[in-house]
Amino acid sequence: MKLGLGTGSTADLFTEFLAERVRNGLTIIATPTSEHTAELARKLAIPLADLNDLERLDLVVDGADEADAALNLIKGGGGALLREKIVAASAERMIVIADASKLRPRLGRFPLPVEVIPFGHATTLARILSAAASLGYSQVVPVLRRVNGAVYRTDNGNFIYDCPFGEIHDPAELATELSQIAGVVEHGLFCGVAWMLIIGGPDGVRLIERAGA
Ligand code: A5P
Repeated sequence: MKLGLGTGSTADLFTEFLAERVRNGLTIIATPTSEHTAELARKLAIPLADLNDLERLDLVVDGADEADAALNLIKGGGGALLREKIVAASAERMIVIADASKLRPRLGRFPLPVEVIPFGHATTLARILSAAASLGYSQVVPVLRRVNGAVYRTDNGNFIYDCPFGEIHDPAELATELSQIAGVVEHGLFCGVAWMLIIGGPDGVRLIERAGA
Protein backbone atom coordinates (compact mmCIF):
# COMPACT_ATOMS: atom_id res chain seq x y z
CA MET A 1 0.00 0.00 0.00
CA LYS A 2 1.13 3.53 -0.80
CA LEU A 3 0.25 5.68 2.16
CA GLY A 4 0.24 9.40 2.97
CA LEU A 5 1.21 10.28 6.53
CA GLY A 6 -0.51 13.27 8.11
CA THR A 7 0.81 15.93 10.46
CA GLY A 8 -0.12 16.79 14.05
CA SER A 9 -0.28 15.12 17.43
CA THR A 10 -3.08 12.73 16.37
CA ALA A 11 -1.34 11.80 13.11
CA ASP A 12 1.87 11.21 15.10
CA LEU A 13 0.05 8.54 17.12
CA PHE A 14 -1.03 6.87 13.88
CA THR A 15 2.55 6.98 12.59
CA GLU A 16 3.78 5.35 15.79
CA PHE A 17 1.20 2.54 15.55
CA LEU A 18 2.02 2.11 11.88
CA ALA A 19 5.72 1.74 12.73
CA GLU A 20 4.84 -1.08 15.08
CA ARG A 21 2.96 -2.86 12.26
CA VAL A 22 5.89 -2.29 9.89
CA ARG A 23 8.27 -3.81 12.45
CA ASN A 24 5.92 -6.83 12.48
CA GLY A 25 6.12 -7.28 8.72
CA LEU A 26 3.52 -4.96 7.15
CA THR A 27 4.69 -3.85 3.70
CA ILE A 28 3.94 -0.23 2.91
CA ILE A 29 5.66 2.76 1.41
CA ALA A 30 4.79 6.17 2.80
CA THR A 31 5.06 9.82 1.89
CA PRO A 32 4.94 12.45 4.67
CA THR A 33 2.96 15.70 4.67
CA SER A 34 5.60 17.70 6.57
CA GLU A 35 9.25 17.80 7.56
CA HIS A 36 8.10 16.97 11.11
CA THR A 37 6.36 13.78 10.00
CA ALA A 38 9.26 12.85 7.73
CA GLU A 39 11.64 13.09 10.67
CA LEU A 40 9.36 11.02 12.90
CA ALA A 41 8.87 8.36 10.22
CA ARG A 42 12.61 8.14 9.54
CA LYS A 43 13.27 7.74 13.27
CA LEU A 44 10.70 4.93 13.36
CA ALA A 45 12.18 3.24 10.25
CA ILE A 46 9.03 3.60 8.14
CA PRO A 47 10.03 3.33 4.46
CA LEU A 48 9.53 6.72 2.79
CA ALA A 49 9.39 7.85 -0.80
CA ASP A 50 9.05 11.17 -2.58
CA LEU A 51 5.46 11.81 -3.65
CA ASN A 52 6.72 12.33 -7.21
CA ASP A 53 7.91 8.73 -7.30
CA LEU A 54 4.68 7.21 -5.98
CA GLU A 55 2.12 8.71 -8.36
CA ARG A 56 -1.29 7.79 -6.95
CA LEU A 57 -1.51 6.97 -3.22
CA ASP A 58 -3.99 4.41 -1.92
CA LEU A 59 -4.75 6.24 1.30
CA VAL A 60 -3.79 9.20 3.46
CA VAL A 61 -4.49 9.24 7.19
CA ASP A 62 -4.43 12.68 8.77
CA GLY A 63 -5.84 14.69 11.66
CA ALA A 64 -7.95 17.85 11.58
CA ASP A 65 -8.50 20.95 13.66
CA GLU A 66 -12.24 20.87 13.05
CA ALA A 67 -14.65 18.64 11.15
CA ASP A 68 -18.38 18.68 10.51
CA ALA A 69 -20.71 15.77 9.82
CA ALA A 70 -20.58 16.55 6.08
CA LEU A 71 -16.83 15.82 6.23
CA ASN A 72 -15.73 19.39 5.67
CA LEU A 73 -12.50 20.10 7.54
CA ILE A 74 -10.36 22.91 8.85
CA LYS A 75 -6.69 21.94 8.79
CA GLY A 76 -3.38 23.71 9.13
CA GLY A 77 -3.16 24.37 12.84
CA GLY A 78 0.22 22.67 12.60
CA GLY A 79 1.12 24.66 9.50
CA ALA A 80 1.22 21.72 7.07
CA LEU A 81 -1.98 22.49 5.14
CA LEU A 82 -0.38 22.90 1.70
CA ARG A 83 1.45 19.57 1.65
CA GLU A 84 -1.51 17.93 3.38
CA LYS A 85 -3.81 19.10 0.60
CA ILE A 86 -1.41 18.01 -2.16
CA VAL A 87 -1.03 14.57 -0.57
CA ALA A 88 -4.80 14.25 -0.03
CA ALA A 89 -5.42 15.23 -3.65
CA SER A 90 -3.00 12.48 -4.69
CA ALA A 91 -4.74 9.78 -2.68
CA GLU A 92 -7.68 7.56 -3.55
CA ARG A 93 -9.02 8.01 -0.03
CA MET A 94 -8.48 10.26 2.96
CA ILE A 95 -9.29 9.05 6.45
CA VAL A 96 -9.36 11.69 9.18
CA ILE A 97 -8.73 10.71 12.78
CA ALA A 98 -9.70 13.10 15.54
CA ASP A 99 -11.03 13.28 19.05
CA ALA A 100 -14.66 14.20 19.68
CA SER A 101 -13.85 17.84 20.52
CA LYS A 102 -12.96 18.42 16.84
CA LEU A 103 -16.44 17.47 15.58
CA ARG A 104 -18.54 20.64 15.36
CA PRO A 105 -22.02 21.36 14.00
CA ARG A 106 -20.41 24.10 11.89
CA LEU A 107 -16.79 24.96 11.10
CA GLY A 108 -15.20 28.22 12.12
CA ARG A 109 -14.56 28.32 15.81
CA PHE A 110 -10.95 27.38 14.96
CA PRO A 111 -9.26 30.26 13.08
CA LEU A 112 -8.85 29.23 9.45
CA PRO A 113 -5.17 29.05 8.44
CA VAL A 114 -4.44 30.71 5.10
CA GLU A 115 -0.94 30.21 3.67
CA VAL A 116 0.33 33.22 1.71
CA ILE A 117 3.43 34.09 -0.27
CA PRO A 118 5.61 36.51 1.78
CA PHE A 119 5.94 38.90 -1.19
CA GLY A 120 3.28 41.58 -0.80
CA HIS A 121 1.53 39.64 1.95
CA ALA A 122 -0.16 42.76 3.37
CA THR A 123 -1.86 43.30 0.01
CA THR A 124 -2.89 39.64 -0.06
CA LEU A 125 -4.40 40.15 3.38
CA ALA A 126 -6.43 43.11 2.07
CA ARG A 127 -7.79 40.87 -0.70
CA ILE A 128 -8.65 38.16 1.85
CA LEU A 129 -10.57 40.70 3.94
CA SER A 130 -12.40 42.05 0.93
CA ALA A 131 -13.37 38.53 -0.21
CA ALA A 132 -14.51 37.69 3.31
CA ALA A 133 -16.64 40.85 3.52
CA SER A 134 -18.24 40.05 0.15
CA LEU A 135 -19.46 36.76 1.64
CA GLY A 136 -20.78 38.41 4.79
CA TYR A 137 -17.80 37.77 7.10
CA SER A 138 -17.12 41.35 8.10
CA GLN A 139 -15.67 40.88 11.59
CA VAL A 140 -12.62 38.81 10.65
CA VAL A 141 -9.34 39.98 12.21
CA PRO A 142 -6.58 37.76 10.80
CA VAL A 143 -3.38 37.28 12.76
CA LEU A 144 0.00 36.71 11.11
CA ARG A 145 1.26 33.54 12.76
CA ARG A 146 4.39 33.94 14.88
CA VAL A 147 6.47 31.53 16.93
CA ASN A 148 8.48 32.97 19.81
CA GLY A 149 7.99 36.43 18.35
CA ALA A 150 9.32 35.56 14.88
CA VAL A 151 7.04 35.28 11.87
CA TYR A 152 6.28 31.59 11.34
CA ARG A 153 7.47 30.05 8.07
CA THR A 154 5.85 26.92 6.69
CA ASP A 155 7.90 24.02 5.29
CA ASN A 156 7.45 25.82 1.97
CA GLY A 157 8.86 29.13 3.25
CA ASN A 158 5.47 30.90 3.31
CA PHE A 159 3.55 32.86 5.95
CA ILE A 160 0.22 31.91 7.56
CA TYR A 161 -2.62 34.23 8.45
CA ASP A 162 -4.95 32.64 11.01
CA CYS A 163 -8.41 33.94 10.14
CA PRO A 164 -11.17 33.70 12.77
CA PHE A 165 -14.23 33.59 10.50
CA GLY A 166 -16.62 32.59 13.25
CA GLU A 167 -19.38 30.30 12.04
CA ILE A 168 -18.70 29.40 8.39
CA HIS A 169 -22.12 29.07 6.76
CA ASP A 170 -20.91 27.69 3.42
CA PRO A 171 -17.39 26.16 3.59
CA ALA A 172 -17.25 25.28 -0.13
CA GLU A 173 -18.20 28.84 -1.16
CA LEU A 174 -15.52 30.35 1.10
CA ALA A 175 -12.96 27.79 -0.12
CA THR A 176 -13.62 28.73 -3.75
CA GLU A 177 -13.36 32.43 -2.99
CA LEU A 178 -10.08 32.13 -1.07
CA SER A 179 -8.52 29.93 -3.76
CA GLN A 180 -8.94 32.70 -6.31
CA ILE A 181 -6.96 35.33 -4.41
CA ALA A 182 -3.55 36.27 -5.80
CA GLY A 183 -0.92 35.60 -3.14
CA VAL A 184 -2.90 32.88 -1.37
CA VAL A 185 -1.05 29.61 -1.81
CA GLU A 186 -3.58 27.46 0.02
CA HIS A 187 -6.21 27.61 2.74
CA GLY A 188 -7.10 25.09 5.41
CA LEU A 189 -10.64 24.33 4.20
CA PHE A 190 -10.85 20.75 2.92
CA CYS A 191 -14.27 20.29 1.30
CA GLY A 192 -15.23 17.07 -0.48
CA VAL A 193 -11.78 15.62 0.26
CA ALA A 194 -12.23 13.32 3.29
CA TRP A 195 -13.72 9.90 2.71
CA MET A 196 -14.20 8.93 6.34
CA LEU A 197 -13.95 10.51 9.79
CA ILE A 198 -12.94 8.34 12.72
CA ILE A 199 -13.89 10.19 15.88
CA GLY A 200 -12.71 8.94 19.25
CA GLY A 201 -14.59 10.02 22.36
CA PRO A 202 -15.59 9.00 25.85
CA ASP A 203 -18.34 6.79 24.40
CA GLY A 204 -16.06 4.95 22.01
CA VAL A 205 -15.35 5.36 18.33
CA ARG A 206 -17.73 6.86 15.78
CA LEU A 207 -17.31 6.47 12.03
CA ILE A 208 -18.77 9.04 9.66
CA GLU A 209 -18.50 8.09 6.01
CA ARG A 210 -18.95 10.23 2.95
CA ALA A 211 -22.41 9.68 1.47
CA GLY A 212 -22.17 7.00 -1.22
CA ALA A 213 -18.75 5.81 -0.04
C1 A5P B 1 -1.42 20.17 10.57
O1 A5P B 1 -1.11 21.24 9.77
C2 A5P B 1 -2.88 20.14 10.81
O2 A5P B 1 -3.66 20.11 9.67
C3 A5P B 1 -3.23 18.99 11.73
O3 A5P B 1 -3.74 17.90 11.05
C4 A5P B 1 -4.19 19.47 12.69
O4 A5P B 1 -3.65 20.67 13.23
C5 A5P B 1 -4.52 18.49 13.80
O5 A5P B 1 -3.49 18.42 14.72
P1 A5P B 1 -3.69 17.73 16.13
O6 A5P B 1 -3.93 16.28 15.87
O7 A5P B 1 -2.37 17.98 16.84
O8 A5P B 1 -4.83 18.40 16.80
